[in-house]
Amino acid sequence: MTPDKKYWVEEPVPETPAPSEYPAPWKNTEVVGTRLPRIDAYERVSGTAVFPSDIVLPNMLYGAVLRSPHAHAQIKKIDAAAAEAMSGVQAILVPTSPEVRDVRWPLYRGADPVPLLSETCRFEGEPIAAVAAETPQQAADALRAIEIEYYVLPPVADERDALADGAPAVHDGGNRAGDPDRYQRGDVEAGFAAAEVVLERSYHMEYQIHAPMELHGCVAQWDGNRLTVWESLQGAFSIQEQYARILGLPLANVRVVNTYMGGGFGSKLQTSRASILACLLAKMTARPVKLFATREEAMLVTGNRPGVDIRLKAGVTKEGALTALEFSGLSSAGAFSEGGAGLNDWLVKDLYTCANVKCENLLVHINAGPCRPFRAPGHPQGAWALEQMMDDLAVAIGMDPIELRLKNVPAVSQVRGGQPYTTTGLKQCMVEGAEKFGWKIARKAPKADGHIRRGVGMGACLWIAGGGGPPSTIIVKMYSDGSVNLNMGASDLGTGTRTVMAMVVAEELGIDPAGIQVENADTGTTQFATSSGGSKTVPTESPAVREAAYNVKKQLLEMAADEHDLDIDDLMLTGGAVVSRSDPNAKFPVTELQGLRRRRVVVGIGYRGPNPEGKVVNPFAAQFCEVEVNTRTGEVRVLRFLGAHDSGRVLNRLTFDNQVFGGISMGIGYALTEGRVLDRGQTGKMVNANFHDYKIPTAMDVPADMSSVVVDLQDTECNTTGAKGVGEPVTIPTAAAVANAIYDAIGVRVPDGPITPGKILEVLAGQEKEA
Ligand code: MOS
Repeated sequence: MTPDKKYWVEEPVPETPAPSEYPAPWKNTEVVGTRLPRIDAYERVSGTAVFPSDIVLPNMLYGAVLRSPHAHAQIKKIDAAAAEAMSGVQAILVPTSPEVRDVRWPLYRGADPVPLLSETCRFEGEPIAAVAAETPQQAADALRAIEIEYYVLPPVADERDALADGAPAVHDGGNRAGDPDRYQRGDVEAGFAAAEVVLERSYHMEYQIHAPMELHGCVAQWDGNRLTVWESLQGAFSIQEQYARILGLPLANVRVVNTYMGGGFGSKLQTSRASILACLLAKMTARPVKLFATREEAMLVTGNRPGVDIRLKAGVTKEGALTALEFSGLSSAGAFSEGGAGLNDWLVKDLYTCANVKCENLLVHINAGPCRPFRAPGHPQGAWALEQMMDDLAVAIGMDPIELRLKNVPAVSQVRGGQPYTTTGLKQCMVEGAEKFGWKIARKAPKADGHIRRGVGMGACLWIAGGGGPPSTIIVKMYSDGSVNLNMGASDLGTGTRTVMAMVVAEELGIDPAGIQVENADTGTTQFATSSGGSKTVPTESPAVREAAYNVKKQLLEMAADEHDLDIDDLMLTGGAVVSRSDPNAKFPVTELQGLRRRRVVVGIGYRGPNPEGKVVNPFAAQFCEVEVNTRTGEVRVLRFLGAHDSGRVLNRLTFDNQVFGGISMGIGYALTEGRVLDRGQTGKMVNANFHDYKIPTAMDVPADMSSVVVDLQDTECNTTGAKGVGEPVTIPTAAAVANAIYDAIGVRVPDGPITPGKILEVLAGQEKEA
């Protein structure tokens, strides 16, 4: 793939804005925008980077959690005496243990907290007891030795069954999780009356599991009443607050460290009941405790993207103007919600111009693990319905699907009172993406070659957030030898945050990013940052990083101006020296500045200011793909994919493209193979809680031919680096694009995802019958 010229800076032209111009947008950049490999690549590939799951402390115990094997049960009797007497066992917690009895797990905002260990099991995997032992094997043996009798209760395992008469009640109050969430603007009835074509369709999507590479868990250690936790998380500071609240400790007594961590996708925006149990076990034994989930446990209890049943009705004129959209969604957060349910209708409300919109979302309880936020909560589900509907509308009025979308591109956020976007690249993503993809030619190409059919499809999206602030506080230090330290609170989920932020510092200070030491995500040594989530790490943190580096630069330039009697606006910092713009021979290495030599360190602090008032910052995207469907076996091969993304300025083209390709891979899994399978109507248990049966695409299942097109409208309003965030939009329209390509190939819809070979054969058989 050839990178866009403008992001591939071949001739560096330093044009550092003069201090009086700051915070002027960058013009030409030397480091920012290049394809810089990760500055910590060596540590990551050599294994010297210490992830929380690598931590081994002297005298450390291993924890394990006894989890409900049933989807729905009540504990009759629990006896841990035999387990307690086993060799190596140092502590056991059961629901009645005094150390845990009064500890509550806060779930999600607004929900009533639940006991940490429960005698009522509302989902498979709900924690019942915990042990700490000298070895992981002894801990596992002890769990098996806990004698326990259950009343097994009938479960409800599907949102479509939850409201039926006689459905098992997950909670005393019934299975409705509150009133439906409703939204309305305009008059949908009038809108449908004004339409020339009205379509109404049903869609379904399954529950997707986050499945990050590193499992969920921690090592907990107490030093008197001070707690240190090394945990695989998306943010050290919000979880420091969670620990302090749950355990009744001052913030100052809780240190959370997660300098490196192995992925989260939203499932690590919070800690887990198991990690709180690890803290309690560590306190009881006065020894460090390590407690990580197994892969099977993680699939059951650390979150999911809620499945959804959608009914969508849409009206359009023959000219392609959307006149009305009516959406109704049914979904489940599981037995409890740990966040991330909802927003299924956001795209219906805001992606295309439509005056008349009505949405209703009902959430129900089922006997399954709680959902958690998952890479663009609600958006891929909504896109699955809306983007397939847009395709069907286009067919119905005989218009190209991109043409139809282009007729309905909004300049304002309709949900947010008509506020304008700082930039809207939706149109450019579709137009430039279609051109680079070769849309017109590919759509016209012959579909059939015997039993192999070929098709192309696309989908578009926006993402609800584009970074923001405050708060974020960054410290950049330059030492007397000119070396630089960047101190930031934000976690690097593996996306390259440490590298991207070092590039921002390097850009301001005119130095090599590889030499910058980064300290991050440790509440004991860095300053507050919000969690890395919402695609906002780069747009939220980079302006604060830029300001901190700028403040270092400003001090150095002031020193040089002062010491050599120069005009500060004539100075710039490059190659480790202060250089005069008008006289390139006037060059003063920073190590020779008297001010730096005297102080030994120059410290710059940066804060994140707010986004512009009255405007909305959102990234936009369009994705295109080509597939082959084998009509004899139902197999789908994705041949190529192209993502065109308006995420503002690209700070590192390499890590940016990594996000595009990774998000597309995740979306292909969502479209074709992934999906939690519960034993509906029987035990309610998950039958594919492992990597063999839960099918995440491998390198063999995604196309080698993937490309990334950058749409940059040079947003100078959103923030001082111009970045809008890319982590989530990359996976929003993907599954819908695949579904549309399959439709283009075989001429019949499979609205029930994931689109497995069996479902394709079923619809093809139905089509033959009709013919
Ligand atoms: Mo994301 S679902 O905000 O990690």
